[in-house]
Amino acid sequence: MLDFSKNLIDDDIWGALVALAEAAGVRERTSAMFAGEHINNTEDRAVLHTALRLPADASLTVDGQDVVADVHETLGRMRHVAEAVRSGAWTGATGQPIRNVVNVGIGGSDLGPLMVYRALSDYREDLTCHFVSNVDPTHMHETLRFLDPAETMFLIASKTFTTQETMANANSAKAWLLAGLESAGGLSGADLDGAVAKHFMALSTNAEGVAAFGIDPNNMFGFWDWVGGRYSVDSAIGMSLMLAIGPEEFDQFLAGFHEMDQHFQTAPLAENLPVIMGLLGIWYRNFLDFETHAVLPYSQYLERFPAYLQQLDMESNGKSTKLDGSPVDHETGPIIWGEPGTNGQHAFYQLIHQGTSVVPADLIGVVNPANDVGGQHDLLMANLFAQAEALAFGKTGEEVEAQGISVALVNHKTFSGNRPTNMILADELTPGIVGQLIALYEHKVFVQGTIWGVNSFDQWGVELGKELARGIVPELTSDADPDLNHDGSTNALINHYRATRRR
Ligand code: F6P
Repeated sequence: MLDFSKNLIDDDIWGALVALAEAAGVRERTSAMFAGEHINNTEDRAVLHTALRLPADASLTVDGQDVVADVHETLGRMRHVAEAVRSGAWTGATGQPIRNVVNVGIGGSDLGPLMVYRALSDYREDLTCHFVSNVDPTHMHETLRFLDPAETMFLIASKTFTTQETMANANSAKAWLLAGLESAGGLSGADLDGAVAKHFMALSTNAEGVAAFGIDPNNMFGFWDWVGGRYSVDSAIGMSLMLAIGPEEFDQFLAGFHEMDQHFQTAPLAENLPVIMGLLGIWYRNFLDFETHAVLPYSQYLERFPAYLQQLDMESNGKSTKLDGSPVDHETGPIIWGEPGTNGQHAFYQLIHQGTSVVPADLIGVVNPANDVGGQHDLLMANLFAQAEALAFGKTGEEVEAQGISVALVNHKTFSGNRPTNMILADELTPGIVGQLIALYEHKVFVQGTIWGVNSFDQWGVELGKELARGIVPELTSDADPDLNHDGSTNALINHYRATRRR
């Protein structure tokens, strides 16, 4: 349920916004996306994450590929392996069942599975999943410190299988596994050589890269170039989730996405949840000049949802160039940020209530909690409703004065109100509802990208830093002092690092 009654709009504005969506061709571009047209024009690719959740009896052939058959063939293989691992039939190199799964990936190959794993942790059974993304070796070290290699499975999650951070982490995972199985597990020779096949899976579109790394092709679960990294949690990238919650619940997760896809395709624009949220965002970003947008879940299970949305939204719509290559002449994607609600209340809500910036926010609550210790859930929901009320209606100086507050403090205790929020209330945090929630935001981002005229499915803005880092690596690792040709600031930083590090 989306309540958007606390927004800064009236009927005229709303009518004009809906007309804007029509004029910008939201409907037409939606049809083009679902049909598999190459709407990702800078990479000449279809954009078909929606095909990942089509039911098996649907049909869609794109660029000569029977997309639905391929998706379900992969799902079937994932299901088979997930059941074997979950039941204990799949054993590691020393014959022990797998108890810990470590997903090694970054960006879309990390944030989605991690966020949903946390969101659905009430659904998980014996297996524990861990997520290593940062190339900082501390991340891997702290994750593996208390794990036993004999019962650990690594999922190397990388669409391209070339991402520097993930490849570095995958190699150190392999070294840790083999060293542990050799020393504590007593394995050697062929048994040790065969261990990678029993402890590593790959989730990727790059079969050659996976084979070169040494992962058994039978343990590779593929997807396709028409699935963007940040839109991939419902592809093979979700393997950790399927292992944790089981194939049936994973099916429900996919069904939730599909339900929202259908709503998005068929509901009239003015009653279409992703369109409504997209248009409100346009109103605030382009007409009222609000620069940021907060996502504030009142559910601990959704603690990583804001981080997930940062990639989904900012990597999609943080663009200054239009589809035709010309520069935009309007603002595009807002800065997305947030934290679980009640924690935020005691930290940054001061600014949201009384700061000079207006921060439109999505407040997300769950009506029926998975657990309710000491009736605390009503307390949580009371805070949720109170914050939305306070932000919208504030407190006037007269109301403050009427409480007998001294004149000197009246302004300090006054709240302007008119700070807009959406309220999303989920009946329960089920796999299906989490799928709906993700698809809601995917399509919101799509609607906004369409109106802004940008390609929401490329991410050229991440490339320059990667390219420069590749050049700097040898300048840090070389024994001899390198000949530095950066700007003066960067040269000085590299020299400082080389001179002060202790090795
Ligand atoms: O650098 C950004 C990015 O390409 C994201 O779009 C992507 O989700 C992430 O890196 C990881 O990429 P991969 O799955 O290919 O390792």
